[in-house]
Amino acid sequence: MPSSPPEVSLADAARWYDGKSFRDDWTSWHFPNWLRLLAPFRGRPAAMLEIGSWEGRSALFFLNYLPQMRLTCIDTFAGGQEHRDAAAADAREAELLQALESRFDTNVAAFSGRIDKVKAPSAEALIGLGLDDRRFDLAYIDGGHRAREVYADCALTWPLMVRGGLVIIDDYQWAEMPDPMDNPKPGVDAFLRSVEGQYRMVLDDYQLAIEKR
Ligand SMILES: C[S@@+](CC[C@H](N)C(=O)[O-])C[C@H]1O[C@@H](n2cnc3c(N)ncnc32)[C@H](O)[C@@H]1O
Repeated sequence: MPSSPPEVSLADAARWYDGKSFRDDWTSWHFPNWLRLLAPFRGRPAAMLEIGSWEGRSALFFLNYLPQMRLTCIDTFAGGQEHRDAAAADAREAELLQALESRFDTNVAAFSGRIDKVKAPSAEALIGLGLDDRRFDLAYIDGGHRAREVYADCALTWPLMVRGGLVIIDDYQWAEMPDPMDNPKPGVDAFLRSVEGQYRMVLDDYQLAIEKR
């Protein structure tokens, strides 16, 4: 009989980051939800897709918490629009972006055997995965924040998901940009309308999580 991995506390998860190098933490406050949502996937092999990896913080959570999971990480490592705007205005931000990919590589080095890194714009990468008939049990969508980008990431991810697969969408309620179309929500809402009846909502908060029927 397959045995489940030992339970994980928030204190355990915090230790996964010891000795690693990060500037940002947009991620840890989601861990209580992720511990709960991802628990059913812990004791079995799974394929997971991550769109938007940055310094590797979310990837490290998924790789540690799901010991039999293989992770495909899609990122240009060039930052989103807001990071590129910041880099154009501030030399320290530009330096951070310059070093982003090597920081990701170093942070996740212990898991390199379970990671497929795809350095490309997400639409291009997702089309490639579709053409290769790849399928995923789990997806985390945390790439570009503009409505059209999030819509494209969701719409191109959906056909890759198996039935019962779980898609977590970050930043649903992020509303930092004055033009609503520069925020994720209109893109996510349009995507959800396009797949009505095909999913079950399992988390409706700052992040959304939907299970494919
Ligand atoms: C918010 S960060 C991801 C944070 C990460 N998931 C975490 O929790 O630490 C967004 C990432 O998406 C990437 N990104 C933005 N637009 C993209 C696009 N169109 N294609 C691929 N990657 C993109 C950026 O380079 C950046 O690393």
